[in-house]
Amino acid sequence: MIASARTSGWAIVALSLGLAFCGGEPNHPQAKLAPPQPNHSSELAIAMRAMDDELVSLLARHAEEYAWDGAALTPMDLAQLMPTDSSMLVEGYTAFAMAFGKHIEAFNAAPGPDTYSDVVSGCLSCHMQACPGPIERINKRRLD
Ligand code: HEC
Repeated sequence: MIASARTSGWAIVALSLGLAFCGGEPNHPQAKLAPPQPNHSSELAIAMRAMDDELVSLLARHAEEYAWDGAALTPMDLAQLMPTDSSMLVEGYTAFAMAFGKHIEAFNAAPGPDTYSDVVSGCLSCHMQACPGPIERINKRRLD
C-alpha cells in the first residue's frame, strides 16, 4: 500500500520534470512544481531558447515593417547538440535537424516571408515528433 503510493508519487514527479524540461510556457502551472533549473538545461534546450529569441527579435525588427533585407538566423547543427533525455531523439530526428538546417540556409540566402515561414514549419515538424511542449509557443512565431 505505502510502496505503491510512493511509486505513483515518483511517477508524478518524473512526469512534471519531463514537461518542464520539454519547455512548456513559463507561466504553465507545472512550472511551479518543478521550476526550470538553469544548471539542468541541456545544450539543446539552451540552443532552442536562443533560436526562439532570434525569431522574436527578427519578427519585431523585420516582419512588422515588411523589410527583410539584412535579416539572418544563426545556423546550428541540431543533430550535434545533446538533449535532456535520449527519448527526445525520436526516429527521424536527424532528418528533421537536417531539413531545418536547410531552411535556415534558404532563409539567410533570401530572407523574406516565405523562407521565414519554412523555418517555423521546420521548428514545428520536429516538435510534433520530439517535444510537443513548446508548440504553443512556436505557433506565436508564425507570421499572421
Ligand atoms: C530537429 C528537431 C527540432 C527542431 C528543428 C527544433 N526543435 Fe526546439 N526542441 C527540440 C527538442 C528535442 C527539445 C527539448 C530539448 C531538451 O529539453 O533537451 C526542444 C526544445 C525547445 C524549446 C524549450 C527549451 C527550454 O527552455 O527547455 C523551445 C522554446 C524550442 N525548442 C523552440 C524551437 C524553435 C523556435 C525552433 C525553430 C526555430 C525549434 N525549436 C526547432 C527539437 C527541435
